[in-house]
Amino acid sequence: MKLTADKMPTFEAELINTLKRHNNNGLFMPFLKTVEGGKRLRPLLMLLINEACGTLVNPLDAAQAIEILHTISLIHDDIIDKEKSRRDDSPFYIKYGRDKAIIAADFAFGLVMELLAKYNEHIMKTVANASTEMSQGELIEVVFMKKRKISLADYIRVIKMKTASLFAATCEIGAALSKREEMGQEMKEFGELLGLIYQIRDDQEDQGKKGELINVLDSAERGKLQDYMITLINNAQNHLQKLDDSDAKTYIEHILALISDVPGPLHLTPK
Ligand code: IPE
Ligand code: MG
Repeated sequence: MKLTADKMPTFEAELINTLKRHNNNGLFMPFLKTVEGGKRLRPLLMLLINEACGTLVNPLDAAQAIEILHTISLIHDDIIDKEKSRRDDSPFYIKYGRDKAIIAADFAFGLVMELLAKYNEHIMKTVANASTEMSQGELIEVVFMKKRKISLADYIRVIKMKTASLFAATCEIGAALSKREEMGQEMKEFGELLGLIYQIRDDQEDQGKKGELINVLDSAERGKLQDYMITLINNAQNHLQKLDDSDAKTYIEHILALISDVPGPLHLTPK
């Protein structure tokens, strides 16, 4: 199979180059070390959707912008959650201190703007919206964590904003930079569904761990999650069916299946 995965080494090289342009900045090395070790799920999805819809504009800079935005959100989330481990390592704030972890946001947003400058207003606004939505999701989560009990609707509201919004933007941009721009809405909805599925799986695995929102989800409502997941997966599959058949589409289906079925670490390369 000819796969977009072939493009991932180029993605890695370009991401490193982007950071290296700022190697005189004290945040260069800490940020580089933190960016290393991610699964690159979002960039991979963007590139696959872009390929499935026929590349029109090179999405590699947008894919980097999304990965950098994701990285800074993890750096900050780990402070809030008092995480002790991230990507088989200590989180940024433990290794480099909280001050650098906070200032890293300015660095990251500089990189994001630099990377997006070549695109049009729609791409800029899509990323901007995802970023503000993520912040709102994080904020509401902090508030909800202080409650004894939250409803399923509240839980979904948080994960839609904090996680699914970036997946939605990622997938929408993949289509927006393709020959089939009209697939943008379809792919945005697919991305949102995939993001919800991904976060629920992640939370189910972490259930019981201190500081997890899913622990305050009303236990009767928690029982409804399984049915809800099935609906999400079916809907996501339906959205994918709107894509013409291609190797890239098969790969996206593989990713959806992995995320849907298999709790535990993701292996994104098909066997
Ligand atoms: C972790 O995202 C945060 C969630 C949305 C669950 P990833 O699982 O994509 O993190 P990395 O980038 O692979 O470390
Ligand atoms: Mg958190």
